[in-house]
Amino acid sequence: MTKRGRFITLEGGEGVGKTTNLEYIRAFLQERGIDVITTREPGGVPVAEQLRALILGEKLVPEAELLLFFAARLHHLRELILPGLAQGKWVVSDRFTDASFAYQGGGRGVSWQRIRYLEDWLLAGTKPDLTLFLDAPVEIGLARVKARGESNRFEEETAAFMHNVRRAYRALWRQDPDRIKRIDASRPLPEVQLEISGYLKALVEAWRG
Ligand code: TYD
Repeated sequence: MTKRGRFITLEGGEGVGKTTNLEYIRAFLQERGIDVITTREPGGVPVAEQLRALILGEKLVPEAELLLFFAARLHHLRELILPGLAQGKWVVSDRFTDASFAYQGGGRGVSWQRIRYLEDWLLAGTKPDLTLFLDAPVEIGLARVKARGESNRFEEETAAFMHNVRRAYRALWRQDPDRIKRIDASRPLPEVQLEISGYLKALVEAWRG
């Protein structure tokens, strides 16, 4: 029987370096002979990518925004993540449900209780095996986003919104430190990646048994 793969997510506020580190994680795992799928939220599969364009393009009522993120996530989970894991692949996603708790919960003020209800109902409790929370002061992230040029409507939110998102991520991490590893992403990239590699090594060793 094929051994189920592992599900890893990357989380954090704007400009913390998720994209660069996603590539690093993919290379790290592939070098160890692991079959890897990298993906992102919102998106990852055609329906969800269409929803992504809608969500990132339109200003939405917070609850509508939340529901669209979950609609995209449900397709992503059923069509890509779960089948990939069942085939023994490792799935690495740039964001997952923690982002809803942080952005729609912390940022927009939707209660966590309601988000948890959607998570339990729609995702049947699917949680990542490992979540790498890249954490950096809001000012650092915003400066990086600015330097990058193009931005989406979340990246154009106020600093107060970003502080609330960060606070929510830190609360999630404190609630579940076994799954969520907080990484200080204000440090130079090699230091960040050394820490990430430690968590990956442990997960690979445990998986190989
Ligand atoms: P992302 O692809 O991470 O944007 P970028 O790579 O430019 O940082 O995510 C797009 C935006 O969607 C991001 O600003 C955070 C937001 N988001 C939510 O608000 N809730 C969610 O559940 C998810 C998955 C993302």
